[in-house]
Amino acid sequence: MSVKSEQIEVSSSDFQKMKDFVYEQLISSTQNDADGNRMRWYPWHSADYRFIHTLNVVSISTKIAQKEGANIDSVRISALFHDIAKFSSSQKDHAQDGADLARDYLQNNFDYPDSFPDAIHKIISNHVYEGPLSNLSPEERCLIEADMIDKIGANGSALLILRMGYDSRPSSHISDTLQKVISRGKETLHRVASDTAYSIAYQRVQRATWLKEWIDEETPGAFELSNK
Ligand SMILES: [Fe+2]
Repeated sequence: MSVKSEQIEVSSSDFQKMKDFVYEQLISSTQNDADGNRMRWYPWHSADYRFIHTLNVVSISTKIAQKEGANIDSVRISALFHDIAKFSSSQKDHAQDGADLARDYLQNNFDYPDSFPDAIHKIISNHVYEGPLSNLSPEERCLIEADMIDKIGANGSALLILRMGYDSRPSSHISDTLQKVISRGKETLHRVASDTAYSIAYQRVQRATWLKEWIDEETPGAFELSNK
């Protein structure tokens, strides 16, 4: 079932206000999280990384929604808020808590009819759904597809290479790390439902494959060392 909020148009000033709110929330929730601070240097745990990921998901999901005929404003606003509770809640609860936070914020700060914050709430709650995407609305699908796509390709490769330092892994493991991005990319290709998401993911898998081939060709000694 499609999420009905066709009448809503979110202005660029409203969008900017929401964007500022999301960034402030991410910053304040990392500042309040004393246990997390030791890991802040690793981008996965930083407010800036999460915000960049969020904006990537906004852009990818908007592109998919435009081509697949989903409601663009429902998709891009859900994407903007989808990880807002990533640091303030547990991984298990972040989708539900983020959905609640987004709905409250939209209801209290704008005059949209209730159907809009309700639609956003539903899309965000379901962004951690692990079943077949064919069971979901087009808007829910766009968000999940974009969230998966941001984890492969350039951003996914850079993040996993940085993670090697976090895990104290030597540079000779770069090729294995890139293989993980490629495998994750192939899983994404199997899971996405729309042609648009498939073609974006396909291009990313190709690029990660080229990057791995480049590394393998120019650093033959790494293979030797990683197998010692
Ligand atoms: Fe995400």
